Amino acid sequence: MAIRTVIEPFRIKSIEAIRRSTPQQRRQFIEEAGYNLFLVPAEAIMIDLLTDSGTSAMSTEQWAAMMQGDESYAGSPSFARFRDSVQGIFGFRHVIPTHQGRAAERILFTVMCKKGDVVPNNTHFDTTRANCEFVGAQALDLPVCEAKQPARALPFKGNMDTVQLAELIRRVGAKQIPLVMLTITNNSAGGQPVSMENIRAVKEICKKHGIPLYIDACRFAENAYLIKLREPGYADKSPREIAREMFSHADGCTMSAKKDGLANIGGFLCTNDNLLAQQERDLLILTEGFPTYGGLCGRDLEAIAVGLNEVLEEDYLNYRITSTAFLGNHIAAEGVPIVQPPGGHAIYLDARAFLPHIPVAQFPGVALTVELYLEGGIRSVEVGTLMFGEHATMDLVRLAIPRRVYTQSHIEYVVEVILDVWRRREQIRGYEIIHQAPFLRHFTARLKPLNE
Ligand SMILES: Cc1ncc(COP(=O)(O)O)c(C=O)c1O
Repeated sequence: MAIRTVIEPFRIKSIEAIRRSTPQQRRQFIEEAGYNLFLVPAEAIMIDLLTDSGTSAMSTEQWAAMMQGDESYAGSPSFARFRDSVQGIFGFRHVIPTHQGRAAERILFTVMCKKGDVVPNNTHFDTTRANCEFVGAQALDLPVCEAKQPARALPFKGNMDTVQLAELIRRVGAKQIPLVMLTITNNSAGGQPVSMENIRAVKEICKKHGIPLYIDACRFAENAYLIKLREPGYADKSPREIAREMFSHADGCTMSAKKDGLANIGGFLCTNDNLLAQQERDLLILTEGFPTYGGLCGRDLEAIAVGLNEVLEEDYLNYRITSTAFLGNHIAAEGVPIVQPPGGHAIYLDARAFLPHIPVAQFPGVALTVELYLEGGIRSVEVGTLMFGEHATMDLVRLAIPRRVYTQSHIEYVVEVILDVWRRREQIRGYEIIHQAPFLRHFTARLKPLNE
């Protein structure tokens, strides 16, 4: 019989100690941090699931490649290796390095958008939205309606609503829409994938109206693998072939290499348009650096060049998706409400359903993040009323899993901690804000627990 256990497809050569803490110490840390996990020092965290961005463990191949980093200001061979690696997967004519994803977004929107324009996306990530709005354009989310129904287990809840897209173009006119974006996977809507069928359908509409399609490619490999697992006709294709096909439908992309680049910093912007590329490079020189390094060291370019290929290895993706699903399925089996089905990079707990006795105005998501920390030193992030104020349609708690960092027993530990909190959920109380900043308040807000 074939062995079914999915193992981590790597051995560990260098380790980083996990600092243990007692519940009493954690109570003190969280009180001092105003019950905001962003304000807790990393040394006081045992399992850090705050983000999967920039937190990956690099391979020996990546570290070795970094030694080849050529730090020449112009024309570095490290750039050539980076560009070739990106083009080999993404296939775009122009590759512009940036220091991270949001820098690519800023350049793209500055060059392509003007005041009054509308940019539709399945769901804009918060930096994408902010950069779009910063140039005076309107960032519009057009997710399929299932995206807002956490309990429904459908394969491609990251899709864009194409009926609404067509209707929007009819209403405002193609001239007002300089580009359409698709975020794969759809981070702000539970890390759910976008199907190839949806990418094709969106492209078809864009093509009809002469509007370019750009992909926010942060988690392109996880999206490709979920297509392989869930979309008819792709089971026998490799993740690389699927990725090539996804990007063949687009005119360009933005990328944060801190996710599926398996690097700790970096990003890029791609386009097939010669004129836009020229304008983008001019702007790049102004704020990021010369077009052969774009704010990155030669050694960062090398790490990304290798990481982009490693992330497409099937053994890696199988382990990645299986490990995330293990966490989601084990807690869901005990009744814990999560965004279904488990996506690629994170599991999202539905805090409103987890703590129905806590009114939305008393931040059920914050209450849950605090309890996971007190119980087991786990850092998660609230994606709900604290983050979005009255615009929040859900109160989620995201457990983002860094790539190649935690082992199966770490994940089992997380399952145990969540289930312990689940069993005593009725005793958990809500919170009120005692200090908040005028914008992006979730990063620095201080709160205090409410008594009965
Ligand atoms: C979907 C998506 N787009 C863009 C970004 C921005 O990337 P960066 O943090 O590298 O600026 C992120 C980061 O989390 C993201 O998840």
